Amino acid sequence: MFLRSDFNGHSKYILFCRGNEKFSPERREELISRNVQRLYISTKDTDKYLKYQERNLKYIVEDKNKSSLEKSGALYQVAKNLTEDLLDSPRSGNHIERASTWINNIVSHVLKDEDTFSSLFEVTSHDYHTYTHSINMSVIGLLFGKYLSLKPHELDSLGTGMLLHDIGKVTIPSKVISKVGRLTEEEFTAIKKHPKAGLDLLEYRSNVDGLSLKIVIQHHENHDGTGYPYGIGGSDIHLFGHISRIIDVYDAMTSNRPYASAKRPFAALSEMKEKMSVCFNEELLREFICFLGPKDPRKKLRTTDKLYNLPSFTK
Ligand SMILES: [Fe+2]
Ligand SMILES: [Fe+2]
Repeated sequence: MFLRSDFNGHSKYILFCRGNEKFSPERREELISRNVQRLYISTKDTDKYLKYQERNLKYIVEDKNKSSLEKSGALYQVAKNLTEDLLDSPRSGNHIERASTWINNIVSHVLKDEDTFSSLFEVTSHDYHTYTHSINMSVIGLLFGKYLSLKPHELDSLGTGMLLHDIGKVTIPSKVISKVGRLTEEEFTAIKKHPKAGLDLLEYRSNVDGLSLKIVIQHHENHDGTGYPYGIGGSDIHLFGHISRIIDVYDAMTSNRPYASAKRPFAALSEMKEKMSVCFNEELLREFICFLGPKDPRKKLRTTDKLYNLPSFTK
C-alpha cells in the first residue's frame, strides 16, 4: 500500500506497507493521527486486492463503520470479478461456490440495511455486458424480492438464479451474442438455445437449487405463451420465471447497448406496459412499477431517452 504525496502539481507514491507485512492497529492509528484518508495500491495488484475483498466480504458487510454505499460498492466490485471468471469458465465448481457465498453476503446486506435500495442502484453499471447485466439482474431481483416479502432462503435462490440466468450464452458464438443489427433466423435459433444450455451447465450443481433453475430455463417465456424455449405461459411459468422476465427486459432497456442507448426507468416501464404487456404477468408488472416508482437513481443519468417520442405521450 502506498501513501500519495502531492508536490508542485506532481504526485508521488511512497511505500507505506508491503503485502506480507501486518497492517497493525498502531499503524492504523498513525494514519488517523496524520489525517490520511486514503491508501493506494499498484494497478498490478488489483487482482490481489479484489481477492482480499472477496475473502473478507462478510466482515465488510457487517462493519458498522462502513456506509451502505461502501458496502454496496464492495459487493459490486467482487461480483464483477467473480462473474467475469464465471463466464470465462462456467464449468468451474469453485466459481459457482464463490457466487453462492456472494449471494449469502448480498442477501444479508439487503435484509439488514435500510438504504440498500439507493446504494445498490447507485453502484450498478449502466452499460450492457453479460456480466454487468447478470449482476444487475441479481441486485434488482433481490431488492424486488424483499419488497415482495420473500423469505431469506427464497431470496438466496432468486439471487442465484438471476446471477446465473444467462450463463448458457457462453455456449453460443460470441459473434452472434455481440452482433449489432437484426439477427438472421439461424442466429436467433442459436440464441434461443441459451436457457437450455444454462440448465445443462447448472443442473447437477449442489449449490444451485430447483428454484434458481426455474429462472435459468424460464426467463424468456412470455405470459401469453409466445416466448422460448418451451412457449409455456400463464401459471405454467413459475413466479421466479415471471420476475426474471420483467427484470431482464427492464435492465436491458435501461442500459446502454451497442444498438440502443439507455432509456430512463419511466420510459422503459411505460413501453413495457404499453407495448409489451402480453410478455409479463400483469399483476407482477404493476407491483414492479410500484416498487421502482420514481426511485431508480439511474433516472438522473439519462440524456437521450425517448420518453416524449412514445405514442402514448405524444399529443
Ligand atoms: Fe437470456
Ligand atoms: Fe438476460
